[in-house]
Amino acid sequence: MSLAYTVICGSVRETRIGSRDGRMGLRVSRMVCQELEKQGHKVNFIDLKDLNLPMLKYTFAEYDDLIDEDIPESYQTAWDQIKKADGVIFISAEYNHNMPPALKNFIDHLSMGDLSQKMAAVVAYSIGPFGGCRAVPALKESLTVLGAISLPDVLLLPTVEKAIEEDGKIKDEKLENRLKKFLNKAHWLAEALKNHRN
Ligand SMILES: Cc1cc2nc3c(=O)[nH]c(=O)nc-3n(C[C@H](O)[C@H](O)[C@H](O)COP(=O)(O)O)c2cc1C
Repeated sequence: MSLAYTVICGSVRETRIGSRDGRMGLRVSRMVCQELEKQGHKVNFIDLKDLNLPMLKYTFAEYDDLIDEDIPESYQTAWDQIKKADGVIFISAEYNHNMPPALKNFIDHLSMGDLSQKMAAVVAYSIGPFGGCRAVPALKESLTVLGAISLPDVLLLPTVEKAIEEDGKIKDEKLENRLKKFLNKAHWLAEALKNHRN
């Protein structure tokens, strides 16, 4: 079954040109989007750097209640892409053992029900040896609060700059298998929930 996925890149910091420590979130996002598309799924990609949300003033839903201010079109599009998705994949770096602030800020713009009965999966990465694992518990907890059904499996990517090229191409054959297995589990859960969502 072809599924509708939304993939969110949670890191927004500037790429330092010439540095090996650029914004790694993009290459991870590209890898995931490319594999999903190769498998025939519909993919929407939200780059939080492009979305450029302010620190939370109004949740997306609250814009409806405002008299003087409409929700900006790009926010509405991103919100719709969350609500319409069969599965949402969050690409998370680990900053000081937690998720990037832009990702938390985006999640806080959502409301109860936006992710309701929807598969949410986490791909975490770091340039160090732990693959972003310490950012995962807080992220999963926030997703669960919003009603998502969190995929128990997490794809952790240590030394990410060595594993994935800038264009998303996988350098490491083992990672290709890990990615496919991880996505198969995501498809299974997303499809099961799609068939039973109210
Ligand atoms: C503010 C900040 C905090 C970081 N904290 C961690 C950390 O707790 N653990 C870790 O493994 N790497 C940490 N790193 C290194 C990141 O793994 C690395 O910078 C990675 O490229 C971040 O992803 P990004 O490039 O998509 O922003 C940190 C980097 C930054 C900028």
